[in-house]
Amino acid sequence: MSDIISMKNVTKVYAINQEHALVDASLDIAQGDIFGIVGKSGAGKSTMLKLIGLLEKPTKGTIEIFGKCMTGVSAAEENSIKKNIGTIFQGYNLLMQRSVAGNIAFPLELAKYDKVKIAARCKEIAALVGLEDKLDAYPASLSGGQMQRVAIARALATNPKVLLCDEPTSALDSFTTKEILRLIRDINAKLGITTVIITHDIAVVRAICNKTVVLDGGRIVEMGATDDVLNRPQNEATRLLLSCDL
Ligand SMILES: Nc1ncnc2c1ncn2[C@@H]1O[C@H](COP(=O)(O)OP(=O)(O)OP(=O)(O)O)[C@@H](O)[C@H]1O
Ligand SMILES: [Mg+2]
Repeated sequence: MSDIISMKNVTKVYAINQEHALVDASLDIAQGDIFGIVGKSGAGKSTMLKLIGLLEKPTKGTIEIFGKCMTGVSAAEENSIKKNIGTIFQGYNLLMQRSVAGNIAFPLELAKYDKVKIAARCKEIAALVGLEDKLDAYPASLSGGQMQRVAIARALATNPKVLLCDEPTSALDSFTTKEILRLIRDINAKLGITTVIITHDIAVVRAICNKTVVLDGGRIVEMGATDDVLNRPQNEATRLLLSCDL
């Protein structure tokens, strides 16, 4: 399988506070993977996702996306690659003044789809995430699980090749967590979309990720097939995460 995302020796230092959020990180994410990035708070997970999503630039090292090295690409080229990456941010980041349909439509409006196509796509994608009867509802009237479904629908609206999820279940109860994870797995299977999931919760990677990296203090301390990482942890940070797995 070809690599969709490849990081080579990536270091990220935030200029504002000289924080070494990520140090010498290398990884490969293949087509169709559900790739887990796990680590405790401050380990560098969101930083890694922002680098993959082209929302931050590496201080050192290179990132290849869809086989193309992102160092020195033009803004136009970067934008066209970004269009193929959908992101669910930590928290839902929904537009509270817009209905469910309005939220799903937002990226389609930005991409200049015409009105008829937007309405059709909203319906189609709402059905995929089980929100077909909520298109006119406003986020404030939704449960956490439903809000996350809207965030997923919005991320998928423009039919990206990659879905990035930052802590998709951290605000949800265990029943709703299972529902959302099942939805992400179904979408991965149905659409063949390469999926990256960030979590502090090792139960999440166990449930759906085929590959896992463990981050600690900005470094990748463990990487491999999820079963190997969880059953034969080589690093203290992994053992610590496992010990919190209730
Ligand atoms: N925009 C930023 N500017 C400066 N420092 C930052 C910025 N974003 C993150 N950091 C720092 O980089 C380190 C890694 O942060 P990051 O948000 O990637 O961690 P995380 O693993 O996602 O944590 P959490 O589980 O709490 O979300 C932290 O020390 C954080 O303070
Ligand atoms: Mg984070």
